[in-house]
Amino acid sequence: MLTQKPIAFSGIQPSGIIHIGNYLGSIKNWLELQDRYQCIFCLVDYHSITVRQTPAELRKNTEGLLKLYLACGIDPKKSIIFIQSQVPAHTELAWILNTITYLGELKRMTQFKDKATRYKENVNVGLFDYPVLMAADILLYQTNVVPVGQDQLQHVELARTLAHRFNQLYGETFTIPQPLIGKGAKIMGLDDPTKKMSKSAKNPGNYIALTDDVETIRKKIARAVTDSGYEVKLSPDKPAISNLLTIYHLLSNIPIKDLEKKYTDKGYAKLKKDLAEVIINFLKPIQEKIKTLDQKTTNQILAAGTRKAQTLSQLTLNRVKEKMGLI
Ligand code: TYM
Repeated sequence: MLTQKPIAFSGIQPSGIIHIGNYLGSIKNWLELQDRYQCIFCLVDYHSITVRQTPAELRKNTEGLLKLYLACGIDPKKSIIFIQSQVPAHTELAWILNTITYLGELKRMTQFKDKATRYKENVNVGLFDYPVLMAADILLYQTNVVPVGQDQLQHVELARTLAHRFNQLYGETFTIPQPLIGKGAKIMGLDDPTKKMSKSAKNPGNYIALTDDVETIRKKIARAVTDSGYEVKLSPDKPAISNLLTIYHLLSNIPIKDLEKKYTDKGYAKLKKDLAEVIINFLKPIQEKIKTLDQKTTNQILAAGTRKAQTLSQLTLNRVKEKMGLI
């Protein structure tokens, strides 16, 4: 089963809404890697429970995310798809990596600081330790590249640091992973273009969910914040229009320069109207495909993915244990 291709690993938390930021920052790039890399795509449910989840919803969201992976074009014949909590090596390696991670390193993590402020009533140890579990996810598969959005860069850097540290302490064991950051690495909120689009945003107008219906998409784009002036241009002093243009470009493949030309003298309203239709047309086949996926098929895909992930991860875990003197 060991493949000659380099390894790409990534994952998404099954915590409810998956938005076009998630798609453009990660899934879109995954699709392009499937032929050149042995891709491993995880549903990282152990990460989700660092924030309180309703059990029935977590189950539903995990099943929904699996269908979304498939509907977006992740091909189970090429890529390994599995659920994190079904492969125990992830938490085992996380424990081991805990012993070479410094408190100061985790205290510096901006996502922890942000979530600790947002979820004040539940600043649990798992939330703090989250980046170590993510390092374990990555390092278990001797990963070469990690396609993620900008907000995960600091976590991938930590995985690199821990891999180096372990290799130095116990001898060559882990491949050093490289982050892979694409053009859609930081899609901003529709209601506030100074902050990233986020699934935990209180205002649903912040994002377009991949499951949003036609009317919702039209409404959300119509209400999206714009900049002063009227010129349709990619520019640092036009964060809102630049964000809309980026989304338009990435979903349509029309170069930004051409879009700027197309909307000269047409104004923001026309840009928004057309963008809504671009998003609707892009999401339509995905939403239709989701409806055709039945439980039996998804169960079979998961069972095969889990078996492969277990085998691959166990090889690394055994090596780690041996190097450390664990019997
Ligand atoms: P998560 O579930 O928050 O997000 C999934 C992916 O979407 C990207 N993303 C964005 N990209 C562009 N613009 C945005 N506004 C935006 N918001 C989110 C994220 O960068 C991510 O790539 N910790 C990870 C999941 C994880 C993981 C891993 C990823 C766990 N273990 C190992 C890679 C490798 C997370 O919470 O992603």
